Amino acid sequence: MPFNIAVFASGRGSNFEAIIKEKHKKNYIYNVSVLVTDNPQARAINIAKENKIPFEVIEKKEGMKRIDHENEISKALSKYSVELIVLAGYMRILSSEFVNKWKFKIINIHPSLLPAFGGKGMFLQNIHKSVIERGCKVSGCTVHYVTEDIDNGPIIYQKVVKVLPNDTPDILEKRILKKEHIALPYVINEIANNRVKIINGLAYIIKDDIQ
Ligand code: GRF
Repeated sequence: MPFNIAVFASGRGSNFEAIIKEKHKKNYIYNVSVLVTDNPQARAINIAKENKIPFEVIEKKEGMKRIDHENEISKALSKYSVELIVLAGYMRILSSEFVNKWKFKIINIHPSLLPAFGGKGMFLQNIHKSVIERGCKVSGCTVHYVTEDIDNGPIIYQKVVKVLPNDTPDILEKRILKKEHIALPYVINEIANNRVKIINGLAYIIKDDIQ
C-alpha cells in the first residue's frame, strides 16, 4: 500500500512543489495523492496540474460555517485513502473536531524556531519582521504535529539559519524557505517509513540520517 498524503496549501505552494521534487530526487516513498486548497487562485493548483496530481478546490464561502467547510474537505479526502495531511502554507485554523479526528496524522511547517514566534498573528512576513526586530541571531523552520493548541504540537524536526545584520524580512524568508523545502519532505518520508514516534507527548525521529 502506498503511503498517501494530502497536501493543504492556500497560495504560492513552494513547499508543495518541494514535496513533489524531493520525492523524485531522493526516492522518498510517500505518494502525493491530492492537493486541497481553499483558494481558487492558488499557484499550488498550477503545480498540481503540471505534475498531474489531483486537486480539490474547497472554498469557504461567505457565511459558511467552519464545520461545514471541513465536512466538505473530509468528504473529498475520503476518495484518496490518505494516511497523512501536510499543511504547507494552509491559511486556516482547523477545528478541534477535525484535528482530533486526525490525531497525529496532521503535520505543519512553520517558518520560525517554535515555540518562538508562533501562535496567533504569527504568519508569513510578520514572523520574519519580528525576528529581525528582536535582534535574533538565528531563526529557522519547524515541522510539528498539529494539535488543537495552535503552533504548539510536538516538534518533529527543526532547521536553523543565521540572521544576518542586513537582513530584510524578504531575504530572511528566502533563506528559511530553502531549509523548509528540505525539511518537510524529509519528515514526511520519515513518517511514511514509520520512523517518527511519540513518546510521553514528544516526537522523535528514531534514525536521523539527514545530511
Ligand atoms: C511557508 O513559509 C510555511 O512555513 C508557512 O507558509 C509558507 C508557505 O509557503 N506555513 P509556500 O506556499 O509553501 O510557498
